[in-house]
Amino acid sequence: MLGEYDFTKKVTVLTGDRPTGALHLGHYAGSIRERVRLQDTGAECFVMVADAQAYTDNIDDTRKVGEAIPQVVADYIGCGIDPDRTTVFLQSAIPELAELTLLYMNMTTVSRLERNPTISAEKKLRGYGEFERDFPSGFLCYPVAQAADITGFKATHVPVGEDQLPMIELAQETARKVNRAAARDVLPEPLAVLSTTGRLPGIDGKAKASKSLGNAIHLLDTDAEIERKVMLMFTDPDHLTVAQPGKVEGNVVFSYLDAFHADKEEVSVLKDHYRRGGLGDVKLKRLLANTLVDLVRPIRERREEAISDSARIEDILRKGSAAARERVAAVIDEVRNGLGVFRLR
Ligand code: TRP
Repeated sequence: MLGEYDFTKKVTVLTGDRPTGALHLGHYAGSIRERVRLQDTGAECFVMVADAQAYTDNIDDTRKVGEAIPQVVADYIGCGIDPDRTTVFLQSAIPELAELTLLYMNMTTVSRLERNPTISAEKKLRGYGEFERDFPSGFLCYPVAQAADITGFKATHVPVGEDQLPMIELAQETARKVNRAAARDVLPEPLAVLSTTGRLPGIDGKAKASKSLGNAIHLLDTDAEIERKVMLMFTDPDHLTVAQPGKVEGNVVFSYLDAFHADKEEVSVLKDHYRRGGLGDVKLKRLLANTLVDLVRPIRERREEAISDSARIEDILRKGSAAARERVAAVIDEVRNGLGVFRLR
């Protein structure tokens, strides 16, 4: 993946997560791991706790969002995001992002928003009903806000899970519209950076690991919890005895081994063995449990240390948000000028 970056140009990375709870392995595999790699290349990096976006479907549970903010920052630190090299900030602390969203809403049609497949899927998931329209308008418009998040930093690269591709597409369209109106390149067209492993399924075999579905392994899970969840994982329902041949495709244990087991050769040998028969689920799960415990333990220990120092977490957010705000304020001026929007001085 890294080979595809064009380092002759300036790389600006921006991404974020909704604070609705502590993060899990799906976030780690989908995007956080990639952010840490990018941070190590010396690219300019911004990571946002997207609290304003979290309210678009959690306005009845604002406390949950508030409480999750330091948890997410602790998860970042646990995973190796270094606040000295990556600007970690809070979305709601940048009012310019809301202003940019308001401008962009005038450049985005309602039908364009209703065609967003991720929004449709999330509507269903949240019980908003596919054809009902009784959901918050802020929810429908959050992809516009996300275009503002991305272009407000002139981000060139956005590490995200594949469900976020429609959002990146809208950000690209918006950048093009601004550039066309300005008749010059004000904003770069951002690229999505997808993880090489694809979407991580839930332990129950559902397409997505998610906190709300209760099928994720969290970065704060204890060793025993990780082991318990691995033992609950769906494998091949027709693989009833050790001797039988088993299916690798759609087998959650193999999806996790593909995503996290460092020795790819070993995984490939195990897959052959499983397909042939003679490899039991329990043995496979023990291996995965060890892999995940080794991965999560240092993350959990660093995150525990971070969460115990709330003053440091606030300091990280305050400093990061001040720097982020300066950046967006400069970009929004350029966008306003480009669009010819009147501004009282
Ligand atoms: N929608 C993203 C998620 O749910 C979070 C997010 C908000 C984001 N703004 C962003 C991601 C900008 C990338 C860029 O995970």
